[in-house]
Amino acid sequence: MPGARLIGIDIKNKRCLKAREKAAKRGLANVTILHVSAEQYLPGIPAGTVDAFHIYFPDPWPRSRHRKRRFFTMESLRLMHELLVDGGRLFFGTDFFDYYIQAKVLVALHPGFGLTVEPAPPEVRESIYARKSVMREKAIHLFTAVKRPSTDGEPEQKEDKGSVDGEVQPDENR
Ligand SMILES: C[S@@+](CC[C@H](N)C(=O)[O-])C[C@H]1O[C@@H](n2cnc3c(N)ncnc32)[C@H](O)[C@@H]1O
Repeated sequence: MPGARLIGIDIKNKRCLKAREKAAKRGLANVTILHVSAEQYLPGIPAGTVDAFHIYFPDPWPRSRHRKRRFFTMESLRLMHELLVDGGRLFFGTDFFDYYIQAKVLVALHPGFGLTVEPAPPEVRESIYARKSVMREKAIHLFTAVKRPSTDGEPEQKEDKGSVDGEVQPDENR
């Protein structure tokens, strides 16, 4: 993505050092890697300035009592919505099917996003965890959401805060 300014973040310094090393080896001058948490970093970004969020293999916290530690929540989704430009993309990928469903349902409940069939960039399959999933023969589940253009002057669509019981519709074109 030569025309893009890419910012990668991670709370593990070792991962940041590795990522910087890889970027330098490839001569990628448009990549900045920051040793910071998403919770600390995202609130400081000006609204409407991000073209895309790429969230691949976020920590799955598989034990039910730890699930509340997952990054992808309605709160983080609302924040990312605010930071995205109209038409901005949110790419999500995981090899934990229940996390995929959880994230996709949250997106489906947010009136400011639509799911799209547009695939994630193929490079996602080169990430460390994508390779691990392939080695373990685990399926990788991906979805892409688009921020709907803001409808100035029109009454705001209400977010569905009701409970989710039922299947996620297979229609990805909402
Ligand atoms: C399972 S690894 C996936 C790494 C990489 N995205 C990949 O696909 O190979 C999850 C990464 O998220 C980082 N992480 C966990 N919580 C985070 C947070 N709150 N903010 C930023 N990074 C976080 C972890 O340190 C870890 O490196």
